[in-house]
Amino acid sequence: MPNGVQQRLGPVEAPPPVMDLVTFYSQNLAVPARRDIDDRKVLAGKKQFYEMGCISCHTPKFVTLRGTPNKAQAFQLIWPYSDFLLHDMGPGLADGQAVGDATGSEWRTPPLWGIGLTGTVNGNMFFLHDGRARTLAEAILWHGGEGQKARDRFAAADAANRDALVKFLESL
Ligand code: HEC
Repeated sequence: MPNGVQQRLGPVEAPPPVMDLVTFYSQNLAVPARRDIDDRKVLAGKKQFYEMGCISCHTPKFVTLRGTPNKAQAFQLIWPYSDFLLHDMGPGLADGQAVGDATGSEWRTPPLWGIGLTGTVNGNMFFLHDGRARTLAEAILWHGGEGQKARDRFAAADAANRDALVKFLESL
């Protein structure tokens, strides 16, 4: 396989200080700014996001600790739309593989910040842990287990509300 080894840096891809620099860069890279935040449809979709119960796992915001070693990251209001916790998402999403603390049907809530730019950044629209969903609506419809109720509310909503919810996700 091709690799990133550069002769002048030695036999590994990221020797010191490259590893530290890349880590620092990744840790401090900002998430993309939101778009269309005042759009009426986006605001209507935001309301749906709260009302359908998405926020019980996709927790909108947190304030980071005051005492983080990296001052730039201390006491910041952040909007990841995730509780960063494991949830049993039902048999439809299960792969039957226990990994670390996660059973074969548990997945960590992925942050949704930046999700509206997936196509731009990744050049594809593959959602969920194995990339099986090709649209945001498909990703929602795969939710089962602890996410079943919210999924059913989405499925039962009228087209305008489903559309607005997707518009909201696209603004993140
Ligand atoms: C019980 C917790 C829970 C609830 C409630 C929930 N989600 Fe999720 N969501 C998850 C988990 C866990 C995943 C990851 C599943 C996977 O990768 O297989 C996920 C994945 C997603 C994804 C795909 C993200 C990606 O990067 O691939 C989207 C979009 C999403 N959820 C939107 C929603 C919306 C909209 C609602 C409300 C209708 C909702 N979720 C309700 C836990 C939840």
